Amino acid sequence: MGVIDTDRDWCAIADAFPYFGVITEERYKNPSAEDLKEFFATGQNEIAAFLARSERIFGPFEPKSALDFGCGVGRLLIPLAKLAGNATGVDVSDKMLSLARKHAKDAGVSVTLTKSIPADQTFDWVNSHVVLQHISPRRGYSIIHDLWDALAPGGLLVLHITTFRDKAHLGDLLGNDSIVGYDGERAINYSKVDDQIRGILMYDYDLSHVFANMPMANGCPLYLEKVDHAGHHGFRIYVRKRPPVAQNRAVAFDPTVIEDAPKNTSDSAIRTIAAKVGTRVGLLRRGADLIRQALSLSFLFRK
Ligand SMILES: C[S@@+](CC[C@H](N)C(=O)[O-])C[C@H]1O[C@@H](n2cnc3c(N)ncnc32)[C@H](O)[C@@H]1O
Repeated sequence: MGVIDTDRDWCAIADAFPYFGVITEERYKNPSAEDLKEFFATGQNEIAAFLARSERIFGPFEPKSALDFGCGVGRLLIPLAKLAGNATGVDVSDKMLSLARKHAKDAGVSVTLTKSIPADQTFDWVNSHVVLQHISPRRGYSIIHDLWDALAPGGLLVLHITTFRDKAHLGDLLGNDSIVGYDGERAINYSKVDDQIRGILMYDYDLSHVFANMPMANGCPLYLEKVDHAGHHGFRIYVRKRPPVAQNRAVAFDPTVIEDAPKNTSDSAIRTIAAKVGTRVGLLRRGADLIRQALSLSFLFRK
């Protein structure tokens, strides 16, 4: 059995109820002007909160470009464009893209809209929120890889990932009016029956596979913020991409650095040094051990 075509579902959802597809509150099926104001205010607040949290963790950040994967009608794309001066929105649905274009124009911000992640460009801020949970992980992991590649050195990735549901959420699965989906791997996705749309499928990701698709050759601290999306639990991952590997490797094995880490160095001191030189703790320890071994051997030979 093949993977369910969630792209087709999203085009249908967007054609029927674009705003409700983003925030599943009844009023967003036919939103008034006032409803839309509140709808877009949620995006402004979320981007402000993501930025504030990122700055608390990693320090000041002034992005000059941004990418929003699964941008929908532009709820997060517009505040990202305000912040960075311009932003690129990627979405599978033509309807979502045309609404995002209209709302960005109304807001007076500059956006580029496309159906795929640009392969030849990198961005200071790469964002994706409440999107991957609707895409089969088998496809999603490679999308994460592409998003990581699209992140500029020094850039910030804010990525929402779902990993499990609680009873409140799984309650829907047991109702009389549910469709249970099977994507060829796991019978974990499901949708509520709706008269006009097939439904919104939900998936759980494995965090270790997520990280495996963010190749951090020189290590980057990851910050996980717990997210409970109506009983569908997961994380927002915040990570700043370190500059190219070659530079850091050279510094990590510089003997002056290793001298900073004598045998009795505490774990916290090792972590501080690792952060200072931009390498992983394990790498630094291995390097230090090798040099120590070499030194003790040469000592034996001298004897
Ligand atoms: C729940 S909405 C979230 C929209 C936006 N991120 C927000 O928070 O306002 C999910 C969006 O992901 C888009 N989407 C779903 N599958 C996609 C895919 N394979 N590639 C790009 N966008 C996709 C949908 O069309 C929809 O606009």
